[in-house]
Amino acid sequence: MPLRPLDIDPALCLINGQWQPPAGGATLPLTNPSDGSALCEIARGTAEDIDRAVAAATAARAGAWGRATALERGRILSRIGALVLENADELARLEALDVGKPLKQALADVNALARYMEFYAGAVDKLHGTTIPYLDGYTVYTLREAHGVTGHIIPWNYPMQIIGRSVGAALATGNAAVLKPAEEACLTALAFGELARRAGLPDGALNVVPGLGAEAGAALAGHPGVQHVSFTGSVGVGKLIQKAAGDNVVPVTLELGGKSPQLVFDDADIDAALPFLVNAGIQNAGQTCSASSRILVQRGVYDRVVSAMAERYAALRVGPALSDLDVGPLISTRQRDIVRGFLERGSDLEIAAQATLGDLPENGAYVAPTLFAGVAADHPLAQDEIFGPVQVIIPFEDEAEALAIANGTDYGLVASVWTRDGARQMRLARALHAGQVFLNNYGAGGGVELPFGGTGLSGHGREKGFEALYGFTSLKTVAAFHG
Ligand code: NAI
Ligand code: MG
Repeated sequence: MPLRPLDIDPALCLINGQWQPPAGGATLPLTNPSDGSALCEIARGTAEDIDRAVAAATAARAGAWGRATALERGRILSRIGALVLENADELARLEALDVGKPLKQALADVNALARYMEFYAGAVDKLHGTTIPYLDGYTVYTLREAHGVTGHIIPWNYPMQIIGRSVGAALATGNAAVLKPAEEACLTALAFGELARRAGLPDGALNVVPGLGAEAGAALAGHPGVQHVSFTGSVGVGKLIQKAAGDNVVPVTLELGGKSPQLVFDDADIDAALPFLVNAGIQNAGQTCSASSRILVQRGVYDRVVSAMAERYAALRVGPALSDLDVGPLISTRQRDIVRGFLERGSDLEIAAQATLGDLPENGAYVAPTLFAGVAADHPLAQDEIFGPVQVIIPFEDEAEALAIANGTDYGLVASVWTRDGARQMRLARALHAGQVFLNNYGAGGGVELPFGGTGLSGHGREKGFEALYGFTSLKTVAAFHG
């Protein structure tokens, strides 16, 4: 199946600017999770393809791409961003078919991808070193330099957004990238590779090798020719990536999801909070690293929040991605079964509301969005990442208890606080374990400008914003003695 409108064959890898079959000649089936139908075959890249991709990236660094100025790199990124927008409808359709996300979410992801290109295109020629006052007779300055070849192992939940924030920042700073998309969803990664090629990105500066995690992914994470690895996905695989990169003593950025809370105090503007409380849990069918899966509510507004959230849950419409309702299927029947397993572990809990599943395609990967109330903070559903449209509501008495519950998991990605009390906002913004804290909002519209990443099991390193440009470069200090 050629990928309209780009007419690329998804069974190929992009290596050194050429679409080519994987060395082993094998393919993997890609499934449409909305109805279980076969979408197409993708390449099953192996260690040999990763070797070739790393060699192409190394050669790109030694050639024209390595010599390109910040201005020239920025212009190429601008052109990629423009091509992304020109192909917005088609990219959104591919993402909806592949991931199962409602079309409007897929379109939001396309826009985010374009925004990353625009942001990094405009930022990279403002990235500079400093001069350091030093001993008499010296001039000392710093240079920000690309790491070299960067590996990007990405998941299936937001392929375009994660390519934007990670590959975008890596290319802007002059690295040459090897991208290993997830085996469950990789059509927009392939399309992005083609758009980058058409935008004039030199051969080898971006290589795309689909394949299995344990094959192509592991080969990339441990490749001695790679100088930085960025990974978004599960905690278990994140640990493997860090160990593999450790053998080569190269830095990693790990973004491993979370159990992000929203804290709702008695004095909050509940009407303003409500859409965020629910949407942050069900967006992308809950398969979001920064999903808010824990809603902590103070006793004085507890009943009101539970019944208002329940009302919204009951009204959620679930259906195939292209019908563009509130919630689509999960990525796969495997992921659906993981989430069903969690629902069974919650059989001792009070269900505050559950959306009704209507007439849905039989082989789709659907789960009814489910809201649990009165959940104890140490229950497995309040501790483990579920990665499905499931939220738990936990009551609390006072600020101290809310903080202890909020910080009482192994994760720390994002958190939000709903209160009109300014001093409390400031105290909690400092005390919460999280890489991003939102005051009277959640997610801040996902802004590409805002540094993002976690603490604890949520990972380390920062992507997005200007901060990512520091992460994808290393600093060299030059000390000149001139007397
Ligand atoms: P995963 O961590 O296995 O997959 C993410 C990426 O890692 C994919 O590209 C995969 O091919 C690659 N990978 C897998 N094994 C690898 C290995 N040994 N070496 C190198 N790369 C490897 O995640 P999976 O299995 O798809 O989802 C399981 C759970 O992980 C989810 O239920 C969710 O809790 C979490 N997750 C979190 C994400 C986030 O955004 N933080 C995204 C996806 C999953
Ligand atoms: Mg896995």
